[in-house]
Amino acid sequence: MSERFDVAVIGAGAAGMMCAAVAGQRGRSVVLLDHAQKLAEKIRISGGGRCNFTNREVGIGNFLSENPAFARATLARYTPRDFIGLVQRHRIGFHEKHRGQLFCDDGTRPGSERIIAMLVAECAAGNVEWRRPVRIADIGAQTVDGAQCFRIDTDAGALFAQRVVIATGGLSIPKIGATDFAYRIAKRFGMRVIEPRPALVPLTFAADLWAPFAALSGVALEVDIRCGDEGARGIAHGRFREDLLITHRGVSGPAVLQISNYWKPGTPIEIDLVPSLDLGTALIDSKATSRQNISHVLATHLPKRLAAQWLETVTPTEDRRIAEISNAALRSLADGIERWTLLPDGTEGFRKAEVTGGGIDTRELSQRTMEAARIPGLYFIGEAVDVTGWLGGYNFQWAWASGFAAAQAV
Ligand code: FDA
Repeated sequence: MSERFDVAVIGAGAAGMMCAAVAGQRGRSVVLLDHAQKLAEKIRISGGGRCNFTNREVGIGNFLSENPAFARATLARYTPRDFIGLVQRHRIGFHEKHRGQLFCDDGTRPGSERIIAMLVAECAAGNVEWRRPVRIADIGAQTVDGAQCFRIDTDAGALFAQRVVIATGGLSIPKIGATDFAYRIAKRFGMRVIEPRPALVPLTFAADLWAPFAALSGVALEVDIRCGDEGARGIAHGRFREDLLITHRGVSGPAVLQISNYWKPGTPIEIDLVPSLDLGTALIDSKATSRQNISHVLATHLPKRLAAQWLETVTPTEDRRIAEISNAALRSLADGIERWTLLPDGTEGFRKAEVTGGGIDTRELSQRTMEAARIPGLYFIGEAVDVTGWLGGYNFQWAWASGFAAAQAV
């Protein structure tokens, strides 16, 4: 005799555990399935083991989607304050790091493990049954005793559920168990999927273009970074002031991960390497007071190795006393540094992407419940859905909020 549940949640990550716990606590019989040997690896590795579990300030502007307003209602129904309340009830210490980002404190065990333990305890409070690791072969709609339900075939047998919540995430970091399961199920039920793409990901450049900078790998600095056309309607544009890190193959660091969400192949990014300064004026002013060479003066505004490389290859400039260089030449040098325009040739891909952009087209889902509009009883939550947050705790907040929304409805 196959087992029957009110709700089957597939994927025991952030969104799946939240959904299962809340649905169970609402009195539903819930089974939570996952194929991974280790539970919730993405939470475990998040925030360098400290889990940036939410952000104090979450708004619709912190998310990208082809249907930008979709997440508004879901985010409003389960807010950062709600999740903070849960964390406090479980006595997990936390602190604010940068721009509202909340991280677990260091304790006897990593903060991210305490978040996982919290979610497991919440599932236990909802009498959630676990099936893992288990391989899911297929999901199909079926009528049992006259009632429409879903049949889930696994390598440990079949089970039936009136409602199925797909919470299997996106494609990022395949080596810890990411799969295209959600997209496959959606397509099988005739739903549209926005082409998944790596997001929050380092950008790369053609090797010959990047050769002069590859040797600067490890150099980091605060920049203002932008891409897209601010004036053009309907074209996503992003702009961030964060740290940039030079790598062997391109650029990384928070500034670049943020802008990667907005970047489209074939389009340039623009970087101001001295965002707190009018560099042209500063260089011209220093002519009056400095007896130093340009390389020395520039190195007071930029990391030394970057300044030297810039003068050697980007704006080739003879290294002489700054007083001997014309104002026009200094202005032109400064302009290049304040508007460094680069054409990435790609990204580091899903192997390094923190999240997946695109996913289940939200126009297929109810904004209130995350249920598929054309397939009653089937829900999609978390990263599988075409809602992608900025770096800074927003993606977990989407996972909690979308999990909560579905849990209220199942
Ligand atoms: P998630 O990926 O968490 O869970 C999906 C689950 O489904 C997994 O348990 C997986 O095993 C299971 N699954 C997949 N395919 C399956 C199949 N075929 N059958 C059965 N089970 C299957 N975000 C943030 O807000 N703050 C942060 O600090 C970080 N840090 C961070 C660091 C790194 C290195 C990464 C890669 C990502 C982050 N993120 C983050 C992003 C965050 O981890 C991510 O957005 C959420 O985990 C998404 O939650 P989901 O539950 O949707 O998917």
